[in-house]
Amino acid sequence: MAKIIDGKALAAQLNEQTALRVEKLKTQSGLVPGLAVIIVGDDPASVIYTRNKAKKATKLGFKSVLRKLPATTSEQELLTEIQQLNHDPSIHGILVQEPLPDHIHQEKVIEAIAPEKDVDGFHPVNVGKLYTNANEHYPVACTPRGIITMLDHLQAPLEGANVVIVGRSRLVGKPLQALLMNRNATVTVLHHHSRDEKYYLKHADIIVVAVGQPNFLSADDVKPGAIVIDVGINRTADGHLVGDVEFAGVSQVASAITPVPGGVGPMTIATLMQQTVDLAEWSND
Ligand code: GUN
Repeated sequence: MAKIIDGKALAAQLNEQTALRVEKLKTQSGLVPGLAVIIVGDDPASVIYTRNKAKKATKLGFKSVLRKLPATTSEQELLTEIQQLNHDPSIHGILVQEPLPDHIHQEKVIEAIAPEKDVDGFHPVNVGKLYTNANEHYPVACTPRGIITMLDHLQAPLEGANVVIVGRSRLVGKPLQALLMNRNATVTVLHHHSRDEKYYLKHADIIVVAVGQPNFLSADDVKPGAIVIDVGINRTADGHLVGDVEFAGVSQVASAITPVPGGVGPMTIATLMQQTVDLAEWSND
């Protein structure tokens, strides 16, 4: 039976450390970390996510700004809002919740955020630094960074490990691939066009699944003793949250596994908070 990786407990620990760093920053530099979260429209999941992010920021002692803009907001209005936050010295991290309405170009919005305030790590400047493994401070996408924190907490050896990531999204698969390569893992990224998926999965020491499909990964896909990280959040017909992994079966084969809910999700928010304080500290360097 696999060890269940308690993302909620680990996130709580990380948040405690973050709160201590906030206190220290306030007393030593008079600096209060500021996080601005922008939501455009009223996608129900996004409304909940952004509310949770803003609430957590307040709880940890940040300045927390939540801007709720109507779905009819023009691209230019959103860009103007971002420019104002770019110039606001009390704000260190800016997050524009995705998905955006169809009439707004996501790339334009991401590129409008000052790279040093890009708390999501989506700006091409920061993506470039990640891929070149730059020897300097830069923000990284929060879900992948949180996954690395979990793997480090497990003391999973990454150097030379065979890691298979299923899903090549800009939010998870691609940045996680880069983070793991920077840690000297051998990384295979599977996606819709991949062949021989089962072969790659079966040889993996670590599997990360981010496809948005319940029961995508089953026990016979997994090498005994592998670590399985489930990034999926799917709602079943009866309203339950499930991941992408067939948990009951896979947990019999894996050495460690993340649950859904209570695995990767809480780590993403805790990492967002951690990274906001990073940005505040780096702004002070
Ligand atoms: N929507 C779902 N996940 C994320 C995220 O990590 N950042 C942003 N900005 N939007 C999201």
